[in-house]
Amino acid sequence: MAQGQSNDLEFDYFRDKVLRLTGLDLAAYKNRQLERRLKSLLNRHQIPSLSAYARLLETSPTHLDEFKDFLTINVSEFYRNAEKFDELRDIYLKELLKEKSSLRIWSAGASHGAEIYTVAMILEELSPKTKHYYLGTDIDATSLKKAAQAEYLERDLRALPERYKKRWFHQAGENYLLNREIAGKVTFKQHNLLQDSYPGEFDLILCRNVVIYFTAEVKERVFKGFNSSLRQNGILFIGSTESIFSPRNIGFQGVSPCFYRKL
Ligand SMILES: C[S@@+](CC[C@H](N)C(=O)[O-])C[C@H]1O[C@@H](n2cnc3c(N)ncnc32)[C@H](O)[C@@H]1O
Repeated sequence: MAQGQSNDLEFDYFRDKVLRLTGLDLAAYKNRQLERRLKSLLNRHQIPSLSAYARLLETSPTHLDEFKDFLTINVSEFYRNAEKFDELRDIYLKELLKEKSSLRIWSAGASHGAEIYTVAMILEELSPKTKHYYLGTDIDATSLKKAAQAEYLERDLRALPERYKKRWFHQAGENYLLNREIAGKVTFKQHNLLQDSYPGEFDLILCRNVVIYFTAEVKERVFKGFNSSLRQNGILFIGSTESIFSPRNIGFQGVSPCFYRKL
């Protein structure tokens, strides 16, 4: 059998196992990037082949956890890309609040919660004491658990304006604990953007630094899903290195880099 074909079969076998064990379909990920990263992971552990790695993932929960971390990359921080969060506060949230007093906000790929908690702090400043609905979802149960605990390292807070840090955190040893007044506002749920149905009627959806590893086709499917989850004129906020290729074709108007409005 030709080498390429046997590699393809081995990859298909690995992909089936990963889908069964994690619910993540590797076909959604950009091929060359994934191949390169997988190769270096296998080298690091001196694992000879993908089929050997598949067997290891099946029997070792530690390796399975590591592989899920590898695939999902859950780096996050408060007020990440500060100028974009300034823009969110000064333009889009203010506009949304003119239309409706109580907002529904979804952070998809919320990781350990820094992003959705950031929005909750901003809204507490813009519309104090108003009840908004905050949803944070992620495929990764470990990140969601951390999100619910709301305990952070100093480096997670480095971009957060001082006034928010002072008002909403207190220090416990080396860590920073988020006040329950903010932490208690957010509902966290496990949700796979590639498999699960999308919840509805949001005013603002944040999905930042999540789809970067997905193929163009899968990205478009995810963005269409967000479009159906937003109310008319609702805002989608994506990552600084991301963009929607033809926004109008899927019902969005690009309003500035990173921000799209549902038509
Ligand atoms: C790099 S973090 C981004 C966190 C945050 N949005 C930010 O920008 O700071 C990417 C997150 O997307 C999540 N993720 C990856 N694939 C996903 C999927 N198919 N469904 C839901 N979440 C996913 C990961 O678990 C991870 O927590």
